[in-house]
This record gives sequence, structure tokens and C-alpha cells, in this order.
Amino acid sequence: MTSDNRQHPRRLLVTGATGGMGRACTLAAVEQGYQVVLADLSAPKLEQLAADCVQQGGSAQCHTLDVTQPDTVAALAAALGAGGGIDGIIHTVGISPQMGGWERIIEVDLVGTTAFLEAVRPHLKPGCCAVAITSMSAYMCPPNPELEGVLSRPLAPDFAARLKPLQAQLEHPGLAYSYAKRALKQYVAEQAMAWGKEGKRFVSLSPGLIDTEMGRLENNAMENFDAMRSLVALGRLGEPEDIASTALFLVSPLAAYISGCDILVDGGFVGSFSAMQRQSSPS
Ligand SMILES: NC(=O)c1ccc[n+]([C@@H]2O[C@H](COP(=O)([O-])OP(=O)(O)OC[C@H]3O[C@@H](n4cnc5c(N)ncnc54)[C@H](O)[C@@H]3O)[C@@H](O)[C@H]2O)c1
Repeated sequence: MTSDNRQHPRRLLVTGATGGMGRACTLAAVEQGYQVVLADLSAPKLEQLAADCVQQGGSAQCHTLDVTQPDTVAALAAALGAGGGIDGIIHTVGISPQMGGWERIIEVDLVGTTAFLEAVRPHLKPGCCAVAITSMSAYMCPPNPELEGVLSRPLAPDFAARLKPLQAQLEHPGLAYSYAKRALKQYVAEQAMAWGKEGKRFVSLSPGLIDTEMGRLENNAMENFDAMRSLVALGRLGEPEDIASTALFLVSPLAAYISGCDILVDGGFVGSFSAMQRQSSPS
């Protein structure tokens, strides 16, 4: 794979590129010989990351992107088209419960994210793959068929109107985050058929407790963090590189038959959490 990339350079789009996981994905991709297209909110941070890529012997193009601003999404999509398309997408953009209210979380993590992925989809070459980063939180909120039904159509013209009567169920940012990530996971599963008809794969990746700035912000705010951490079967927090290596596998030809599913990269947390819940629920 690596030598193939060097002979026929493949272009990989990384969004949220200057964040913890985005940076790890970017540097690992450069190491594997990809040409990287970097997108994020801050131009100066992107320029710094591009300089780091060049220092590693790679090349990078930068685009400022706010997934909630359609003009920036359209500009990036047009640039990808003009550049002859791309060979993979790793979409890490997201905000966590400590970073915004419920409306902003739904706007960025679900509506903006799905609108963005659909806008760049025509520029993903057949045979290639998009990976959307979700969260293990998607596995941990109680089933809510009515709410999940509305969230499963984030791009419907009447989405806001249908959400309004249910919004009280989302007003805790932690719940908004969990349901947004679950809806994104579900969106990937449901849309993979349409992507597959174009010869494209669509996969979600759910990280567990990962040691990034966002992860530390959330962990510090958690009253029961030590108890949560003790449920990680592998006994350590994940590193952003754990996510990068899995995401790069998923966009590679080695994952050619993986689509429409979620890959949980959580060190065994959800398995332990589910077992604990079963043991503590009355039989
Ligand atoms: N860190 C964890 O423990 C953890 C756990 C589960 C899931 N996740 C998810 O993994 C992904 C990456 O997380 P991270 O820890 O690297 O976080 P991070 O905050 O370091 O990176 C997120 C990136 O998204 C960018 N971003 C935010 N809003 C944006 C917008 N509107 N448009 C474009 N870019 C925007 C930020 O600028 C940032 O660079 C997120 O989707 C997050 O929800 C993180």
C-alpha cells in the first residue's frame, strides 16, 4: 500500500485536520505517501500543519471549512472537483458536550456533517471510501424511536419543524451529542447502499475515551471519570494514533469489503459497559 501510494499518489481529504485525531490522521497519511487535502476552521493552524507535512516530506493543500456554512462547503467541493477528485475522506469534525449547546451540537455533528459528506461525495472516486467519525456515546443512550426517526433525516427540508416538539429531550448537551452521533452512525448505515451503487464505501468509526484536547475537556468535566476509565478493557485511554491507524485501514484497499457499518475503537469500553448494565438490571 505504502509503496503503491508513492508510485501513484492518492489524495486524502482530512477534515477537522488540526484537531487531535485530524492531526494524527494527517501525519500518518503523509507517512503512508498520501497527498493530503486539509480542511478546518482556522487558516493559521492549517498552515502550521501543512508546514509539518512538508517537513515530513509530504505535500498538503489547505481549505478553511465550517460545515455549517454552505459557502465554505461548496468552495471545498468545487476545489476537489477541479483537482480531479479524491481517493478517500476522513471526516473528524465534531464538537463535544462541553463545547456548545444542544442546537449547535446537532448543527455541527449531524446536520452540517451529513450536508458536507453529501456535498463532497460526487468528488470521491469510485472504489474509494469515506469514514465519518462518530462516538462510542452512540451506543450508550436509551432507545428513543420517535426522536431517532426525526434525527435519521437530518437533511429533510422539514427537519427543524419535526425536531421542535421533541427538543426538550435533547436540551442536555450530553444527550444531544449521543443522539447526534447515533444518528450519524445510522445515516452511514442507511446511505451506504446509495454510495455502493456508485462503487463507493461509507463507514463510521466510533472512538472511545481518546486522549485529545476534546477528550481531556470532557474527562475533566465527568464526576465519575475514574469509574468510566476502569471500564476500558485495555486499561488505558486511546491515543489519536489508534484512531488514525484504523481510519487509514478503512480508506485503504485492504478494507475493500467493509461498508455500511460502524467500527468501534474503544479499547473494549462498550462491551464492559453493556455487561455492567446487564448485571445491574433486575432479572
Ligand atoms: N476525543 C475523544 O475522546 C472523542 C471520543 C469520541 C468521539 N470523538 C469524536 O472524534 C472527532 C475528533 O475529536 P478530537 O478529539 O480530535 O477533537 P478536536 O476538538 O481536537 O478536533 C475537532 C476538530 O473539528 C473542528 N471543527 C469543529 N467545528 C467545526 C465546524 N463547524 N466546521 C469545521 N470544523 C470544525 C475543530 O476546529 C477541530 O479541529 C469528533 O467528531 C469527536 O466528536 C472524540
